[in-house]
Amino acid sequence: MENNCPTNPQEEDSDQAQDKYFDGSLDGCQDQIIMTYPTKPIIYSTEDKMKQIEDEFNGFINQDDLANISQRNTYFNVVSREFTCELGKEFEAVMQVFLYIKKKYNVFNQPGGKFYDIGSGTGKGVLTGCLMHEFDKCVGIELLENLHKASQQMKEVYETEFKSKYSNDRGELRQIFNYEKVPEFETHQGDILEYDWSDADFVIANSTCFEMTFMNKISQKASSLKVGSWMITLTKKLPSSDPLMTLEDRIDWECLLSIKRIMSWGYATVHIHRKIK
Ligand SMILES: C[S@@+](CC[C@H](N)C(=O)[O-])C[C@H]1O[C@@H](n2cnc3c(N)ncnc32)[C@H](O)[C@@H]1O
Repeated sequence: MENNCPTNPQEEDSDQAQDKYFDGSLDGCQDQIIMTYPTKPIIYSTEDKMKQIEDEFNGFINQDDLANISQRNTYFNVVSREFTCELGKEFEAVMQVFLYIKKKYNVFNQPGGKFYDIGSGTGKGVLTGCLMHEFDKCVGIELLENLHKASQQMKEVYETEFKSKYSNDRGELRQIFNYEKVPEFETHQGDILEYDWSDADFVIANSTCFEMTFMNKISQKASSLKVGSWMITLTKKLPSSDPLMTLEDRIDWECLLSIKRIMSWGYATVHIHRKIK
């Protein structure tokens, strides 16, 4: 097939390239594009660049990690099965990203810390936090009542199917999770722009469908987090990490890596950010 991909952003105006992305005429090139919607897409010059990013990422995740992720995923599926369709892929993707951060930046080596899922839906992100690291607590904030109620039910299942079993466990669960204390699962019904999540150490936002005006407001809220905290977003970068969207002196997060991971609905770009000031 003829390759119409521009070889670098200079070769074709990137606004034009973005239009082509949206109208589909960049067929066959999508796997080379990382979105920074709505400003400019980053078009990697060659497949080698994509491979280089994948290799760097995968270099931090060994076979034992993959086996452990898969074992934890079994428990994720046991707890979440009544609330969501097959979502193990999301769990695997987020846990891989967490392990990459942990190993590359030598962080989260001790138990503790606070995890937040902002816009937590039925609570699967909160469950992901609970099963991925020995956080003190994992908190979801969700606006919609019916979704919030579902997440409260998920919390109950987590407590009976995981937390109580863990305290009575004779070894198998402890070998997989190595927790002293199982994280608290909390969910709150509320607006993430009102609720205080400034004590977070690790935040996840499944932001693929969030409007950019909303992303800007999330950025303003996120500016109150402590230096060194982490935030991952899907599809859209945190605007306050992006020099194309924020004046340089107001940039207070850095985007360290953008990498595609497979989710249940297809590939999504996961942006990894760290608070720098
Ligand atoms: C794409 S869903 C993600 C759900 C969940 N985090 C997951 O990964 O399955 C985004 C969620 O954000 C919620 N949301 C949107 N605006 C919000 C707001 N201002 N405050 C709290 N939740 C909000 C939506 O109701 C929706 O459940």
